[in-house]
Amino acid sequence: MKNIIQIKTQNKNYSIVVEENSIIPFIKIEKKSKKKIFIIIDKKVKYILKKLEINKNINIIKINGSEKIKSINYYWKIISLLLKLKIDRSSTLIAIGGGTVGDLSSFVASTILRGIRFVLVPTTLLSQVDSSIGGKNGINTPNGKNLIGTFFQPDKVIIDPKVLYSLSKRELKSGYAEILKHSLINDKAFYKWLIKCHRNILDLDKKYITKAIVKSIRIKAKFVHLDEKETLINPSSRAMLNFGHTFGHALETMNNYNTTLTHGEAISIGMAFAAKISYKIKNITEFEYNKIVGHLKIIGLPHHDKRINSNKIYKLMQSDKKNTEEKINLVLLKKIGQAYFERGLDKERIKKLLN
Ligand SMILES: NC(=O)c1ccc[n+]([C@@H]2O[C@H](COP(=O)([O-])OP(=O)(O)OC[C@H]3O[C@@H](n4cnc5c(N)ncnc54)[C@H](O)[C@@H]3O)[C@@H](O)[C@H]2O)c1
Ligand SMILES: [Zn+2]
Repeated sequence: MKNIIQIKTQNKNYSIVVEENSIIPFIKIEKKSKKKIFIIIDKKVKYILKKLEINKNINIIKINGSEKIKSINYYWKIISLLLKLKIDRSSTLIAIGGGTVGDLSSFVASTILRGIRFVLVPTTLLSQVDSSIGGKNGINTPNGKNLIGTFFQPDKVIIDPKVLYSLSKRELKSGYAEILKHSLINDKAFYKWLIKCHRNILDLDKKYITKAIVKSIRIKAKFVHLDEKETLINPSSRAMLNFGHTFGHALETMNNYNTTLTHGEAISIGMAFAAKISYKIKNITEFEYNKIVGHLKIIGLPHHDKRINSNKIYKLMQSDKKNTEEKINLVLLKKIGQAYFERGLDKERIKKLLN
């Protein structure tokens, strides 16, 4: 079955297509346009890579997807290679890979020759439900995650749930963390469905995985429609999608973006902390808080990190893009299925609430 989600933003309307076996047919159609096609592909997406390599007239750049490639060095390497291969303003860049390949490629596409046509083909669960939607890209700096980047909507997104078969269980769970996030911030019924059906989803049962992906995309798309450039500070703000991310990004930065924690694992810990604060200030009940943490445990996602007491993590949280001066703004739960911005928290108050 084919699901199409239309995304409308200020200067671009495009579609996200969720359909099995949709990648190669899409590329065949692209090839007919006679314009130059450049593909940046994660080496681990072997099945698609093999099929592409048979083609002589496509420029393929193979890359090892990981947080390491979201760096100024890799950005420069890719830009230099594309210019050497004579990319021009009518060319199309197609990114096939997880969130790291997508974030780097989108930043490249938005800046090379002042922006070229760009298609995203996300191949991890995390990128299919989250990072390929909404047009944010970015690379990391020692001062924090995603601190260099642009808003750049793709021209199309092609999602094939079948590519997830080769993904490790650990990466599947990481993607599940973002699905859970979408339910917690926006849709209680979806949250209840996840609690009931998580096994079928993680077993990649066709009906369930497709529903989880499509539902997640619709929730994210709603926030993108309401607030594309994240300028609002109310519950319609796109910033709600950062639930769990202020702590999560700080943990990733503390780890120097190594593989100790995946992005999904880091935000899982971040969501558990944000849920705890939401409970301590009486927005949600102790039962609801325990249910969230219990669910993370059942899935096999982490929910605690002892560095939460260190001063460094608070310094890093203050350098998060959402924060101003010394205060920390956190996205918390008003209730299950609704998030809001709690502004101007200070370090001592957060520490007290968490202990
Ligand atoms: N732009 C946004 O709005 C946004 C939103 C959420 C997350 N992100 C970013 O996304 C990144 C995380 O993305 P990710 O979790 O996809 O990480 P990733 O790109 O590192 O992929 C995870 C691992 O899966 C492998 N892989 C990819 N596709 C595969 C497949 N089909 N089969 C087997 N292995 C495969 C990769 O090689 C890598 O080892 C983070 O940098 C995060 O900041 C961006
Ligand atoms: Zn995320």
